[in-house]
Amino acid sequence: MAVGDLVARLEAELARDPAGGRVTEILEAFVSDGEGWRPYVHWNETRYTRNRIARTDAFELLLLCWGEGQESSIHAHEGKDCWLAVVDGAIEEVQFAFPETGARGPLEPTHSHVLPRGAVGYMHDDIGLHLVRAHGGPGVSLHLYAPPYDACNVYCPDTGEVTRIQLACHSVDGEPV
Ligand code: SIN
Repeated sequence: MAVGDLVARLEAELARDPAGGRVTEILEAFVSDGEGWRPYVHWNETRYTRNRIARTDAFELLLLCWGEGQESSIHAHEGKDCWLAVVDGAIEEVQFAFPETGARGPLEPTHSHVLPRGAVGYMHDDIGLHLVRAHGGPGVSLHLYAPPYDACNVYCPDTGEVTRIQLACHSVDGEPV
């Protein structure tokens, strides 16, 4: 499936059902049908890259490239829906509960799992916080955020302290920015 077809299908699905009931099957179909994501791959030696494929009022579709050992912060999702589809390698997701108000101390993982190539995961603040990282070597994953957002809260693993960060892209439409 071409990336343009994926974007058109996601647009139609989120217009039909803002909860995206069929997003998982659309992403699964894309991953099993070729490597249309390849032109969006960008690597960075020091951190994972966020590469924008498409953005509308309803969603943002990004390709994230995780070098070996690279990981995100522990973060929340602004109350939005987040789907993650592994297109190459394997990705580990570690989930955490939101810290109690006023509590200070290390965040304990509540759940972790490894998503192999082709797997699609879903995350929402109702489930908790998570971090995402490469597993067993580099990995590449498609992330769909609906609706899009430009900033989010990240949590210190040792204290639970919250910091607000702006989310940037390393490339847009395949071109570095
Ligand atoms: C990110 O978008 O930078 C982190 C990955 C995620 O939220 O799943």
